[in-house]
Amino acid sequence: MNVQLPFPTIPTPKTWDRGGLPAWTYRSEALFALERGLFLTHWQVVGHESDLPGQGDWLAFDILDERAVVMRGQDGQVRAFHNLCRHRGARVVDGVQGSCRGAVVCPFHGWVYNLDGTLRGAARPESFGPLNREDFGLKPIEMEIFHGFIFLRFHPGPQPAVAVLLAPFADDFAAYRARTLLAVGESGWLTDLPVNWKSVRDVDNEGYHVALAHPSLQELYGRDYADHQLAGGINFSRGGFGDKPGRRWSVREYIKASQDPPGLPPHLQKSWTYYGLFPAMVFAFTPEGAQFYHEIPLAPGQTRLTGRQYRHPHETRRQRLARYLAMRIDRDTSAEDQQLTIWSNESMKSQAFEGFHLSDLEYGLRAHHDRLRALIPVMTLPTPPPEADIAARNAEMLGRGPEPDKT
Ligand code: FES
Ligand SMILES: [Fe+2]
Repeated sequence: MNVQLPFPTIPTPKTWDRGGLPAWTYRSEALFALERGLFLTHWQVVGHESDLPGQGDWLAFDILDERAVVMRGQDGQVRAFHNLCRHRGARVVDGVQGSCRGAVVCPFHGWVYNLDGTLRGAARPESFGPLNREDFGLKPIEMEIFHGFIFLRFHPGPQPAVAVLLAPFADDFAAYRARTLLAVGESGWLTDLPVNWKSVRDVDNEGYHVALAHPSLQELYGRDYADHQLAGGINFSRGGFGDKPGRRWSVREYIKASQDPPGLPPHLQKSWTYYGLFPAMVFAFTPEGAQFYHEIPLAPGQTRLTGRQYRHPHETRRQRLARYLAMRIDRDTSAEDQQLTIWSNESMKSQAFEGFHLSDLEYGLRAHHDRLRALIPVMTLPTPPPEADIAARNAEMLGRGPEPDKT
């Protein structure tokens, strides 16, 4: 099945450096501090409008010592704030997801915020002397909603607005009716893995391993699977299914049950599709629903995998069955990938490891590394500079002086 894609893709060069990032970049604490800056200056998806159906519903999102809360106000608007009380910095909401009735009450001393983040009042206000409420609202975070999906950015960065960045995918998201998707229960999941976040990406950014490592996916769409790079650090992958019945129970039954929603363009019909977004985020669509997943770095050797799942409204029994079967196939695939990620990360510790030698089918991995190297050029060095020099060396390579000492 050779389908025409409706957006421009970047062909894999005829010759290219098949090596990957050096092993030290998967272990260095000083480099991890630079990567923290990278994550906080890039868009992160945190959920979908349907995760917050009612007034006062909220989603929390923690990343690299920053914490956000996204909340629907009394006016129906979704807003994003730092999850940080203006009194002494406590979390104003605790947990991953929940609902506040009418107001947000800080659990520490009871300051009360309106659902639009403005301060309603401090507990025992007379004990503060004059206190201007306008100066003490929850601090807003930059937020953008793209076809229902909510994106945050903690600091300005090199990416354009999400609508510009993901413009090549806008028609696909519209065809999938992403805006009207509904959260599957409390749709979030998370798994912590003892690996560097880049090892997760290194596995997920290529389809070369599908044939051997993912027997169910191979049976479903492996014959047709391909990865495509686009400008701006976004990528697209798809695998079409249905040309063969499938031997495994879940694959066979899934192929029988899956039914395209009306109006899908040819490149989305009978397909699973993946839309990747630098540095570490993927939207995955099947005819019966969608999910996103991303990696949240916790430490150089610790990563949180997390994501959320969505379904179409007015789901038929057949769609529900297909979604259940797709989820089963996907669950097996995730477990297989997690093992590969651990092995890939472990290899970086061995003295014998000499780096990657990549196939053309792994060019996505190279493209990801290239983007990282462009933003954090110290990653191009084959041998690690002393930890204490990494930040200064990187600043020098970027053509800046050393970063001012913030301590
Ligand atoms: S920290 Fe929130 S009320 Fe004191
Ligand atoms: Fe995989």
